[in-house]
Amino acid sequence: MNNTNIPESVFVKAAAEYGTPLWIYDRATIEQRIKEVQVFDHVRFAQKACPNLSVVALARKCGCVVDAVSAGEIVRALKAGFKGGIEKGKTPEIVYTADILDRDALELVKQYNIPVNVGSPDMIQQLADAGVKNELTIRVNPGFGHGHSRKTNTGGDLSKHGVWHEQIKDCIKLAQQNGMWITGLHMHIGSGTDFEHLAQVCDAIIDAARPFGSHLRTISAGGGLPIEYHEENKGTRIDLKKYYELWNNARNRIKETVGHDVALEVEPGRYLVAESGFLVAEIRAVKKQGNNTFYLVDAGFTDLVRPSFYGSYHQISVIARDGRPLTETVDAVVGGPLCESGDVFTQEEGGFVVTRKLPKAQVGDLLVLHDAGAYGAAMSSNYNSRRYAAEVMLSNGELKVVRERQTFEQMMQNDRVIDF
Ligand code: LLP
Repeated sequence: MNNTNIPESVFVKAAAEYGTPLWIYDRATIEQRIKEVQVFDHVRFAQKACPNLSVVALARKCGCVVDAVSAGEIVRALKAGFKGGIEKGKTPEIVYTADILDRDALELVKQYNIPVNVGSPDMIQQLADAGVKNELTIRVNPGFGHGHSRKTNTGGDLSKHGVWHEQIKDCIKLAQQNGMWITGLHMHIGSGTDFEHLAQVCDAIIDAARPFGSHLRTISAGGGLPIEYHEENKGTRIDLKKYYELWNNARNRIKETVGHDVALEVEPGRYLVAESGFLVAEIRAVKKQGNNTFYLVDAGFTDLVRPSFYGSYHQISVIARDGRPLTETVDAVVGGPLCESGDVFTQEEGGFVVTRKLPKAQVGDLLVLHDAGAYGAAMSSNYNSRRYAAEVMLSNGELKVVRERQTFEQMMQNDRVIDF
C-alpha cells in the first residue's frame, strides 16, 4: 500500500481486533501537521473536521486552541480540557463560530463566557439581549468566495456565511450601542485555497479592517488549507511558507492602520487531521456487470459521505488478507452496503460513477480509503440503521480505541414505542 507510513500488518491487525468498518488515526501525522502550521501565532483547530475527544485533546496537548461551531462542540472542547473565558492579552481557548446562535449555544456561551465570532447582526443583538457583554470577533463575507466544490464555497452573495462586507460599520455600531467591542476579524473563504485567490482575500481583509480602528487585535485566516487527495500529486504539498507570508503581509499592513500589534490566527481542520485518517472496510462481494467489476464493501456513505456529497476523491488501496501478492489490476467501481445508488466511493461531482484501477481483489480482502481523517467520522450518520463505526488511534506503535463501535441498543436508545 503506498503513501502511508503505517505498515499493512497494522491495518490487518486492527481489522481483526476491532472489526470493520473501522477508522484509524495516526497520532504522529496529526502532531507533525500541527507543528507545520504553528508558524502562525495561534492555531485554532476546527474540530468539526474530527471531533473525537482524543483528537481534540491531542490538538490541545500540541498547543492548539479550538473552534466550536455548535453547543455540542463547546461541550466537547470543555470535555477535552479547553477552558471557556476571555483573558486580557491572551487568545481565548474556545471561540464559537457559526451562522446562528441557537438557544443551546447561547446558553453555553453565556455560562462559560465564550467569545463569539458573529456571522450576522442578529447574533450581536441576541447576545446583547441575553446580557452577554463580551468582546466579539466578526466573520466577514467579502463578496466573493472559493471552495473545492460548489457545496463548499463560503463567500459571495449566494453564500449564507458571514457578515456582508457592506454591513461591517453597522455591526461595529450595533456592538458599541450595546457596550461590546469587535476586536477580531475573521475571513474563512472556503476549503481549497489557491494563491492568486488568496492574495485577493488578503486585500479584502485589509479593506475590511479599516473601520475597526485601534480596537482590532486579531485577524483570522479561517480554515481551508488544502491537502492533496490524489495519490499522483501527493508529493506536492501546499507551500505553507508562502501561505503564511501572504497573511503576514496583510497583518503587517493592518498593524499600520490600527497602530499596534495584531495577532494572526489560522483555523484549519482538514490540514491537521485528513492525512492521519483511514477508513478500513472489508470487501464483502465482487460482482461483474457487463464490463464493470464491482467491489462492494461494508462501509458506505453513512461512514464516509464526501464522495457521494461532493464527488470527492479518496485514494483507495487493497490489502490481501491472505497475504497473496496483488499483481493484477482491474477497473472497479467501489460501492457500499446502503440502499442508495449514490452509495459509491468512486464517483465524481454530479454523481457520475467512474471506475478506478485497483488490484484484483477477492471477498475478505481489506479496502482502505485514505485521507479520511477530516470530515469522515465527523459526517457519519445512522441512515439504514447502520451503527457508527469504531475509531482507533495509532499512538507510539500501539492501537488504542478512541471511540467504541456504537451498539444497536445505543442506536435506538432515544426511540420510544408509544402505546397503540
Ligand atoms: N473555519 C470555518 C469557519 C469553517 O467553516 C471551516 C470549514 C473551517 C474553519 C475548516 O476548514 P478546513 O481547514 O477543514 O478546510 N465537509 C467539507 C468541508 C466543509 C467545511 C466547512 N467549514 C469537506 O468534507 O471537505
